[in-house]
Amino acid sequence: MAGALRRFVENKPGARICLPTGATPRPAYHRFAGDRGTLSSATIYLLDEFGLPPGSPSRCDEMIARDLLDRLEVPPGSFHALDVGAGDLEAECARYEASVRAGGLDLAVLGLGGNGHLGLNEPGSDRTSVTRVVSLTPETSEHSTDYGSDQAATWGMTMGIDTLLSAAEIWLLVTGSHKAAILRRTLSDPIGPDVPSTFLRLHDAVTIYADQAAAARL
Ligand code: PGA
Repeated sequence: MAGALRRFVENKPGARICLPTGATPRPAYHRFAGDRGTLSSATIYLLDEFGLPPGSPSRCDEMIARDLLDRLEVPPGSFHALDVGAGDLEAECARYEASVRAGGLDLAVLGLGGNGHLGLNEPGSDRTSVTRVVSLTPETSEHSTDYGSDQAATWGMTMGIDTLLSAAEIWLLVTGSHKAAILRRTLSDPIGPDVPSTFLRLHDAVTIYADQAAAARL
């Protein structure tokens, strides 16, 4: 995936890319930076953000800095993130959505939640959803502390399913045996909000990067 990302930005100067955080993309980000990959011509949009205080180690802006941006020799051409500290969260989501849509996304890179969420589009998220404030399920809330924060997030902000499906190309990253069942369901359950990742089957340019453990039940 690190090599594919390098080729993608080489072939498309000025690419507009949505990037995820979390445990899944970390090794690929480290490899990308270690191989001296550059995003200097790219515009990066962060996929989502937890409702946690600035500087919290579980914040997505902190994770992308730690795992990718701080390791690059040159910063990205531009970098955009959702401000969970904004006074008017609805207005902040509308601003972000408009900014994403203004130039579109050439690529959306995504991880897969154990419950089928994409970004923080939890089960129940509609096909037509856009960037918005969301409540987290208990399992996602608990998972938010795995990234270093003592405090669990109970809400967040995320690009919506429609925002993500508007990308020209989508890469879904899935690793580990704990993701095998949900990867299988992503590809075989009825398409709908119960398992939001099933909506990816409505898109015609999705590539899944899975390791052997995650692919074991396909
Ligand atoms: P993970 O998170 O990469 O840390 O497993 C993925 C997700 O919950 O969306």
